Amino acid sequence: MTAVEQRGKAVGAPVDRVDGVAKTTGTAQFSAEHAYPGLAYAVVVHSSISRGQIAAIDTAEASAIPGVLKVITHENAPPMKPAPKQSMVNLSTIVSASSVNYLQTNEIHWDGQPVAVVVAQTSDAAKEAAALVDVSYRPAESFVDFAAGVPSAPLVKGNAFIPTGGKKGDAEAALAAAAVKVEARYTTPPYNHNAIEPHSTTAVWDGDRLTVHDATQGIDWFRTHIAMRFGVPAANVRVIAPYVGGGFGGKGFVWPGTLLAVLAARAVGRPVRLTLTREGVYRTVGGRTPSVQQVALGSTVDGKLTALVHKSVARVGRTGGQSEPITSQSRHLYAAENMLLEQRAVEQDILPTSSMRAPGESIGSFALESAVDELAVSLGMDPIELRMLNEPERDPLEGKPFAHRMLREAYAEGARRFGWSARSPEPRSTKDGRWLVGTGVASAFHPLMLFSANVTVRVSADGSVLVRCAMQEMGMGSATVQAQIAADALGVPVESVRVEYGDSALPAAPLAGGSLQTASVAASVLEVCAKARASLESLAKKAGAATGSSPQEVLAKAGVPFVEAAVGSDTRFGKVAGQLKMMRRLLRDRRYVRAATGAHFCEVRVDQDTGETRVSRWTSVFDVGRVINPKTAGSQLRGGIIMGIGMALAEETLFDPRTGRIMNAGLGEYHVPVHADIPPIDVSWIGDPDPTMPLGLLGVGEVGITGVAAAVANAVFHATGKRVRDLPITLDKLVP
Ligand code: MOS
Repeated sequence: MTAVEQRGKAVGAPVDRVDGVAKTTGTAQFSAEHAYPGLAYAVVVHSSISRGQIAAIDTAEASAIPGVLKVITHENAPPMKPAPKQSMVNLSTIVSASSVNYLQTNEIHWDGQPVAVVVAQTSDAAKEAAALVDVSYRPAESFVDFAAGVPSAPLVKGNAFIPTGGKKGDAEAALAAAAVKVEARYTTPPYNHNAIEPHSTTAVWDGDRLTVHDATQGIDWFRTHIAMRFGVPAANVRVIAPYVGGGFGGKGFVWPGTLLAVLAARAVGRPVRLTLTREGVYRTVGGRTPSVQQVALGSTVDGKLTALVHKSVARVGRTGGQSEPITSQSRHLYAAENMLLEQRAVEQDILPTSSMRAPGESIGSFALESAVDELAVSLGMDPIELRMLNEPERDPLEGKPFAHRMLREAYAEGARRFGWSARSPEPRSTKDGRWLVGTGVASAFHPLMLFSANVTVRVSADGSVLVRCAMQEMGMGSATVQAQIAADALGVPVESVRVEYGDSALPAAPLAGGSLQTASVAASVLEVCAKARASLESLAKKAGAATGSSPQEVLAKAGVPFVEAAVGSDTRFGKVAGQLKMMRRLLRDRRYVRAATGAHFCEVRVDQDTGETRVSRWTSVFDVGRVINPKTAGSQLRGGIIMGIGMALAEETLFDPRTGRIMNAGLGEYHVPVHADIPPIDVSWIGDPDPTMPLGLLGVGEVGITGVAAAVANAVFHATGKRVRDLPITLDKLVP
């Protein structure tokens, strides 16, 4: 671990990840790596129709494979309760990915839905047998083509946490009267989750007690959900996930693999491991919605926005999926006099869509920030100047103050680092051999939320500090940054703080999602450390310890082995007290608009003959409030940018529009960026703390990806003179 020289200076230091050694030496055990005596292996059989019924299912041949313990179908599965209806009142219900009750009926709702699970003594036997399960179907007519659904998509509301939609003045009339306007249609494809660790679950029943090792980013809500589905008290279920190899939202919902592992373990009376293949992830874990978006901007000849219209259509599954807040950033980024924001969503017979890193804003910002660039071109104005001219003083739609907003500063600093002033504004004006070179900018935006988190801390006489919280770590440095925060709050070296996490037996914490975990847990860590300090101070007084004594000295002098403090550890999210506390905190939050923002600068090179596009330079400057750890925050932001470059140039889930079957279910045909596709990324931040947040954090998990695809598209336009409004920007869209 990087030594932090001075006490009280851990926050802000580039401390190495506390889990780094375990991961790099291979001792970290992920969900698929827990050994149990008698462990059996489960493999999923997927539906090959998108809607209808199983007419017959023949398992004889599969069952005859040596080593097969059981072929579980809707005809012989142990019971499982239906999914709870999603409700904002009981937040543990929102992790329900789909209303399908797997293997309890013969109804099929998407191509890829599990229709059987084979359990065997070896994973090879299970795989071989799974291929031999013979299913015949009664197909029904299905509705799977997104393009066909767009015209009739009904209006939807956003979710309770991230407001979307909105109206101010008369945007359509203002648009009609505008001196300058741009109006365009942008489309984005579906994207799939490709966390490096495929989902895996190891389930172990002991009577009616259950232990689940699961690759999840929400252990406490998973625990409650699983308990409900299998009819056991939540206290009987323990979900353990200390190491998760990336989540991005894909591991924030309970997908079939988790439930079927638990079901299979019950069916065979032994521990069962179910690890999805990469193809299994595509067929059973929902990804990002496709979208069709209309953006219209009207302005004065000087570039003052008079109208902003953003209308979006998304897709959800009939059995689940939440409409993404695609217009979220459009509410807050520009001081337009008149605004109209609308969201629609069409329900189709496909795998439920789900959250993927900045759901909504990452694709919504592509359309909005492309349109702003198009307006700058129409006005003959620098795109940064246009943005600064329309930078709002207060939230443009609601009139609330921003808790913190330093987007101007981010653009100024980014322009300096990137060398923006050297740019020749003319499209197709810069060449380097056969490469057309272009640069583009776009804004990043992601709202901040805050949930309540339960934390305990123990300060021991041996100088060690133990922080306990059931948060999760998916590779972003959760435990590391909380150790830094606790170290400073207690005045101890960061090396002496250990954080226990990733186990539902610990005090409950919110999910690692929505960029909210670090801020939420940090608030409780500060509170609990203040309580521990108060106990230490009163001990010091009683024991007559010298002023300025370390906690260790105080405890030694007082002859006390440790002091312990807790915040909210008597409440669980499933219980009313915890819910109310969280709701109160969310409501308090609503006095401000609170968000992380940023400015992306991108340089691309486009081959003039083949249309091949390479991102050659990247600079981003963010306003993410205070940064606890520049190393882990930088890597989160950089990861978001890389994922955004994938969105912009390569990634696309191809659904067969006739059958709803994913045609490129694997990394061989679904292209994510590799090292060679990514230039060095220059990431920095303003670093000024948000005065309304504990420690001044604004979240770093998602803001990085927002705006990225637009920055790339804007740079491609500048390089080539071609405006691509349809992601991904593949070479066929650029060949002359
Ligand atoms: Mo996320 S898409 O909130 O993990």
